[in-house]
Amino acid sequence: MCKVAESKRTKIKALLTGEQVDVNVRVKGWVRTKRGNKNVSFIALNDGSCLANLQIVADPNNISEDILKRITTGACISAEGQLVASQGAGQKVELNAETIEVLGEADPETYPLQPKRHSLEFLREIAHLRPRSNTFGAIMRVRHAMIFAVHKFFHDKGFVNVHTPIITGSDAEGAGEMFRVTTMDLANPPKDEEGNIDFKQDFFGKETNLTVSGQLEAELGAMALGEVYTFGPTFRAENSNTTRHLAEFWMIEPEVAFADLEDNMDLAEEFLKFLAKYALDNCREDLEFLKERALQEEKNLPADKKNELNLIERLEFVANNDFQRLTYTEAIDILKNSKPNKKGRFQYKIEEWGADLQSEHERFLVEKHFKKPVILTDYPAKIKAFYMRLNEDEKTVAAMDILFPGIGEIVGGSQREERYEVLVEKVKAMGIPEEHVWWYLDTRKFGTAPHAGFGLGFERLILFVTGMTNIRDVIPFPRTPGTAEF
Ligand code: 4AD
Ligand code: MG
Repeated sequence: MCKVAESKRTKIKALLTGEQVDVNVRVKGWVRTKRGNKNVSFIALNDGSCLANLQIVADPNNISEDILKRITTGACISAEGQLVASQGAGQKVELNAETIEVLGEADPETYPLQPKRHSLEFLREIAHLRPRSNTFGAIMRVRHAMIFAVHKFFHDKGFVNVHTPIITGSDAEGAGEMFRVTTMDLANPPKDEEGNIDFKQDFFGKETNLTVSGQLEAELGAMALGEVYTFGPTFRAENSNTTRHLAEFWMIEPEVAFADLEDNMDLAEEFLKFLAKYALDNCREDLEFLKERALQEEKNLPADKKNELNLIERLEFVANNDFQRLTYTEAIDILKNSKPNKKGRFQYKIEEWGADLQSEHERFLVEKHFKKPVILTDYPAKIKAFYMRLNEDEKTVAAMDILFPGIGEIVGGSQREERYEVLVEKVKAMGIPEEHVWWYLDTRKFGTAPHAGFGLGFERLILFVTGMTNIRDVIPFPRTPGTAEF
């Protein structure tokens, strides 16, 4: 017996443009709501291709009562029928169902997502189902658009994407916040003659960890290919339970030969402006939804905690205005003389030059003082990583951090120390074992060149672009201290 070929599925996004009506189509997706009466049912169907639902009109003359009963919130269905201009307000088109097949039921007694706004905390507990909520659908689509935009930006400029290793034997940032990688029996690890754990017998014959940054290897690429970038997962075992930190996050790290700090700032600023504009041009429906969502959330906040600009305006602001550039030294002067510092309102009072900046200081500069993105440069050498180029004053390094409203640090970068002797000295002074970085030092011995790069924290970017306030809500499956569910 030959089965009549089933018509192909069309994505709801394509149908909602209203370009095609009075055609027979098939859609597949998940039921958001069903309402109606004994004469007719209206089913709101979402298939993830866009925020909006397609209204399906089910007439009991065509669709049996038995099928209709099984169509509840969360169920997955395949529906086929005539796409027609809608008579009701709220949508251009709707589908008059001729057949409906229930692909998967969702027991209304136990299905956790109801057609109402759930709290973000609750949704984190059901991260396996939260992509089916409007908010997370929107975030995931925006996240995808930004991934694509990152590759487009660098590809169009002729950068080469380099996959740097996830398992490494080095600590690029020198902060010692690494997850160990081992196959040793933890209860009974092999020991050397002195009774210490013998890592020579471990899988890689040495101590290894998950990478905290792809930068060191990206630099090797830049010293051959000129302009490269990495976009990979990075891991940090810092025990900071904040709304800005993840233990597993994604980072974009361009590295450019023959570039100095100025070039580096120009590239980073152009990149962030491009990303903001790309989101505005390509994610409008989702951004409008997220803007409204944020406005609702902010309703109950005190006036000084509310954003002065809405989400769309913030993105436009970044796309169209130059960032404020100043040195660390200038920033310290501003902070020292600031009202909150004098009145003891900072948790960490700024007393003297050399202090590390906390997020409260960064946010004061960005949100209160300059009211725009800020690029801070030339930090004290002793609070920054070993690879940053020493300035002529021998006190500061050619570092740059980009600070964003509502986020704090979004980018960290620098011109790199390309002078062999200076770098070796630095490695020694910071107690970095030369056997960990000999290959890195080699690039300074063989055809060294000035170069610079930076790292953009991808989830911090997505916080900014979506207006969400907790980093756990912009990555599908967040990894934070104490949480690795799903
Ligand atoms: O400032 P960081 O530590 O710089 C580096 O890793 C350099 N190797 C980058 C480079 O020059 N190639 O990290 C870069 C960015 C930060 O500005 C921040 O946006 C993000 O990565 N980041 C985090 N994002 C989420 N969770 C964390 N725990 C993060 N730590 C850093
Ligand atoms: Mg940093």
